[in-house]
Amino acid sequence: MDEAEFQRWVRLLETRTGVTVPPERKPFLETGLRRRMRETGHEAYASYYEDLLDGAKGAVEWAALVDHLTVHETHFFRHPPSLQLIRDEWLPGWLASTEAEQTLHALSVGCSTGEEAYTLAMVLDAALSQMVPARRFGITATDVSQSALAVARTAEYPQDRFDEVPQVYRDTAIERLEGGTLRISERLRKRVGFACVNLLHATRAPLRQLDLIYCQNVLIYFARERRGELLDGLARLLRPNGLMVLGPGEVTGWSHPQLRRTGGRQTLAFVRTSKETQA
Ligand SMILES: C[S@@+](CC[C@H](N)C(=O)[O-])C[C@H]1O[C@@H](n2cnc3c(N)ncnc32)[C@H](O)[C@@H]1O
Repeated sequence: MDEAEFQRWVRLLETRTGVTVPPERKPFLETGLRRRMRETGHEAYASYYEDLLDGAKGAVEWAALVDHLTVHETHFFRHPPSLQLIRDEWLPGWLASTEAEQTLHALSVGCSTGEEAYTLAMVLDAALSQMVPARRFGITATDVSQSALAVARTAEYPQDRFDEVPQVYRDTAIERLEGGTLRISERLRKRVGFACVNLLHATRAPLRQLDLIYCQNVLIYFARERRGELLDGLARLLRPNGLMVLGPGEVTGWSHPQLRRTGGRQTLAFVRTSKETQA
């Protein structure tokens, strides 16, 4: 792929998904494109590009290509310090500042195959079901990749993936199906809903006002100058006292007038302080 062709694909991807492809990722882009081109009978990048822009047919192929060009690596309990921050530092204050009947609404952004959302469900369920009366929660989990979301919705994972789940959660979080397959328990599955939402358009999605936004290992794929804008958009979805948890080091120098930094050096998290109505 020559430089002009590479730049054309970089621009298309960046405009449509926000994901940026630096020069060192060119081989990854070429491999993904060639695989889809073989599967769809295209020999030249140019004819494949034209077909991608071609109405409804192009939109279907675009979804398939995005599945090939996005990185879906994830696992249960991926960043324990962030989970500890939620459970031990933020949640007690949130509970004390809200009415008993208020449901906690959480969002997992770029949830991939679902492990992150189900991890949050395990942590929240363990903490909230102990309250008297028990407090309710719901999690919306979003991603741009339809194939990743399809796996997430099955809630079935190979046995070794569950090795990452601490023993204390296993009895309530995991059920064994006939044939030995392991699945997230119904109790947790019914708390999590998955939706195909492009982070670039997250503020246009019908997301309710949120108490917790969890966004890790997603922003790193976006151009640095865009990350701040995306975070400003997510911050607008947060309710007062709501918490936004990012991956440590994923953004530097970003701040927001209505959010204050919270947690220690192992985490990157912000609490919404203002009681002003959201824009
Ligand atoms: C490396 S995975 C991270 C999964 C999970 N958040 C974690 O930390 O384990 C990145 C995910 O971001 C998703 N993604 C990439 N660009 C996106 C976009 N524009 N909107 C929504 N999701 C996106 C990818 O499809 C992928 O599933």
